[in-house]
Amino acid sequence: MAPQRYKILVDALAADIRSGRLAAGVRLPTHRALAAREGIAVVTATRVYAELDAMGLVSREQGRGTFVRDIAVPAGHGIDQQAAAADAVDLTFNYPSLPGQADLLRQALREVATSGEVDALLRYQPHRGRPQDRASIARHLGRRGLSVDADRVLVVNGAQHGLAVTVMAALDAGDVVAVDALTYPGFKVLAQAFHLDLEPVPTTADGPDLDALEKLCTNRPVRAIYTMPTLHNPLGWVTPAADRIRLIGIARRCGALIIEDAAYAYLVEDPPAPLAALAPDITVHVSGLSKNVATGLRVGFVVAPQSRVPSLERAIRATTWNTPALTTAIACRWLDDGTVDRLEAQKRSDATARQAIARQELAGLPLLGHPSSYFTWLKLPDDARADRLAATLARRHISVSTAEPFATSNHTPQALRLALGSTDPDSLRSALRTVRRVAIEDAQV
Ligand SMILES: Cc1ncc(COP(=O)(O)O)c(C=O)c1O
Repeated sequence: MAPQRYKILVDALAADIRSGRLAAGVRLPTHRALAAREGIAVVTATRVYAELDAMGLVSREQGRGTFVRDIAVPAGHGIDQQAAAADAVDLTFNYPSLPGQADLLRQALREVATSGEVDALLRYQPHRGRPQDRASIARHLGRRGLSVDADRVLVVNGAQHGLAVTVMAALDAGDVVAVDALTYPGFKVLAQAFHLDLEPVPTTADGPDLDALEKLCTNRPVRAIYTMPTLHNPLGWVTPAADRIRLIGIARRCGALIIEDAAYAYLVEDPPAPLAALAPDITVHVSGLSKNVATGLRVGFVVAPQSRVPSLERAIRATTWNTPALTTAIACRWLDDGTVDRLEAQKRSDATARQAIARQELAGLPLLGHPSSYFTWLKLPDDARADRLAATLARRHISVSTAEPFATSNHTPQALRLALGSTDPDSLRSALRTVRRVAIEDAQV
């Protein structure tokens, strides 16, 4: 069914406000003027403004008119997720933590304090990490199906930094990068900062649409493909082995670098082989310890083709010199003594339990999500407005993300991404009940 005329107008005005084309504070035409300009009834113009008001994009002031609100996302960016209010149940960001992790950190700090290496931790470290730390990481990756020589490992300040140094080292402004039509917002932020030309690839149930990717690669000079084959954020897919092989074939034919983001890969037990294991010469593999251990550590890893190591090392030197020695030392202890493996297994069960809560509480609604993932994607009817739902939920102290931060094409689906990992299970259950009620009420409006 084609969207109604007023919905098209709502979407066009919303896009102008989010992109900054209509700046904060601008007075919009009167209802009568909007109706005349668009050839619609005055009552329809009133409905358009009411909808934009409900989405939190305009304010209507008695006797003065309708004004563009100053939305939290900086004008012209529209790419990042808004922070949750302090008193809100946070279903926007995932920072999964298990009871007892603070004690683990206390214990590790005590061990480091008496280890004899404290002095060394006060000095600059090698840009790509100490050899013993890179060796710990290589052993860890080996247990995850990525057998790699420590010489190809670089330690970075979290996966986001890993992606940033990869972009700095391998790409130039204006380069075409194929990305999923819905992708990790942090890569969009990078693309904007480094002036990359992102080309959205439509998605299927378990990965990028490879026919579309193939076509794109014949039509445009694609320099890199950014992909999350094992537990895609936000859709939760795990790309099957055969499709991985096909994706690699496409990348080889067009000479593109593959940037494989495995930030959430640990949540999948026995996944197919990573792209970096199948095509080590053309893949940069990025992951880290944020989601499996703790976001505050800021320790991530990059595995790169040998030839790219020097330029990546320079990019680390240009940005952070090295990762903080103390947290890296703790992280590598945890890699070596089995703590990371144990936390990963516990978080897989925790995520599975939370996913089950989501499926129970949102039963009957169209959800997409891997059974052991920390997020779920709630598709809304085409004529629903995700912003309006998000604004209603925010008033009830529940913060959720719409599809906007994840979308790379002009078509932003009406959907909510619900992060399940940052609140206790009881609050999660009750927040999801509210999400369900609000979504059903909204569909009846
Ligand atoms: C897919 C993906 N990649 C990278 C990151 C960045 O992770 P880090 O905290 O390690 O920088 C995130 C964080 O949410 C993510 O979801």
